[in-house]
Amino acid sequence: MGYRILETEDVAGYLRERGHWDLSDAEVREVSDGNMNRVFLASSKDGTRSLAVKQALPWVRVAGPSWPMSPERADAEARAYERVAAVAPDKIPVIHGYDPENYALVMEDMSDLEVLRTVLNEGAPYGPDTSARIGEFVAQLSFTTSDFGLASADRKALIAASVSPELCEITEDVVLSEPYIEHEHNHWHPELDDLAAEFRADARLRTEVADLRHVFMTSAQALLHGDLHTGSVMVGVREGAPVIRVFDPEFSFVGPIGFDLGLYWANTLVSQARAAALGAESDHADQLRLSWEAFEAEFRRLWPTRVDTFFDDAYLDRFLARVWTESIGFAGTEIVRRIIGFAHLTDLTTLPDPVPASRRALLLGRELIVGRAELTSPEDVEALLH
Ligand SMILES: Nc1ncnc2c1ncn2[C@@H]1O[C@H](COP(=O)(O)OP(=O)(O)OP(=O)(O)O)[C@@H](O)[C@H]1O
Ligand SMILES: [Mg+2]
Repeated sequence: MGYRILETEDVAGYLRERGHWDLSDAEVREVSDGNMNRVFLASSKDGTRSLAVKQALPWVRVAGPSWPMSPERADAEARAYERVAAVAPDKIPVIHGYDPENYALVMEDMSDLEVLRTVLNEGAPYGPDTSARIGEFVAQLSFTTSDFGLASADRKALIAASVSPELCEITEDVVLSEPYIEHEHNHWHPELDDLAAEFRADARLRTEVADLRHVFMTSAQALLHGDLHTGSVMVGVREGAPVIRVFDPEFSFVGPIGFDLGLYWANTLVSQARAAALGAESDHADQLRLSWEAFEAEFRRLWPTRVDTFFDDAYLDRFLARVWTESIGFAGTEIVRRIIGFAHLTDLTTLPDPVPASRRALLLGRELIVGRAELTSPEDVEALLH
């Protein structure tokens, strides 16, 4: 501990002390709805100025002090934002300051925007831009923090600075092992008992997950967002133009690029499963392809700027093919863990009958994991959906 935990009534004074504004009075409300941290919104009485403050506590917010967690996750978040701000400032909230002593980030108020998962659950489409911007986001962050974008010594420094043992361990456990073994964290709808048991008994599935888990643990390709699901994206319209903001990169570390793409893809596929279960027309099945195409195009656009030209064009093709295959595998693990693991998705849990869509999604997840080497294009994945 040893730092100042902000309560709603402290926030206006804190912003003044930190030099963010000179208002003596401001309206502050807490809007934390995640599991981990506190988020406050502060605005001037006349509504012309507003800021958001996100603070990491030394524990998991919803659990309290019984589940301690290092607040250094806020350092990881600030570091990721700093890297993205240099290459894709239009895709993240404006960061007004980071206070490492109090693990508090002061940023743009995005309360005029909405969380992507929320709007999708309400039946909205992704629209033409969202997934393309996400694909570009992953390309821009990953290229510029990879050995293609940074000199070798700078890369080693980034890897060292970005080590995040506690949060990586959460992913290694919750995403990349627990759903395939007996574990107290796991839960599922009783009508999925048979599939949950089948998955735990499936030796081939387990070996493939072990392979992906080891890639996650060892493949220091680039700085990741680390938790790139549809709840980490805000969308909306400002002055007539679409706006997208990727937020909450507290799980950021240097890892396999396919983990970011795969998480996003899993969430698009689950959103599609929801729309299909409701018999709704949707653009959700296109999103994997749209984000991959944008990722690949942006990565190839940046390729001529690489700092190490020993990496030749043929190697780029090989590298992208590997990223693709790993992304597909990670997408599978994210689908599975969101149905029979610890934390589930409202996309499915709020369906009138979540069972048929959950069963289909689980089988799709397994196929993505075990069949990833044979799935070589977005069309191959689309074929699995039908
Ligand atoms: N800059 C902001 N402006 C407006 N609202 C915000 C802002 N940042 C966060 N929020 C709101 O607070 C919620 C939680 O934020 P965030 O996901 O960053 O916190 P978290 O505790 O890390 O969540 P999780 O447990 O999902 O990791 C968001 O879903 C959003 O509703
Ligand atoms: Mg978070």
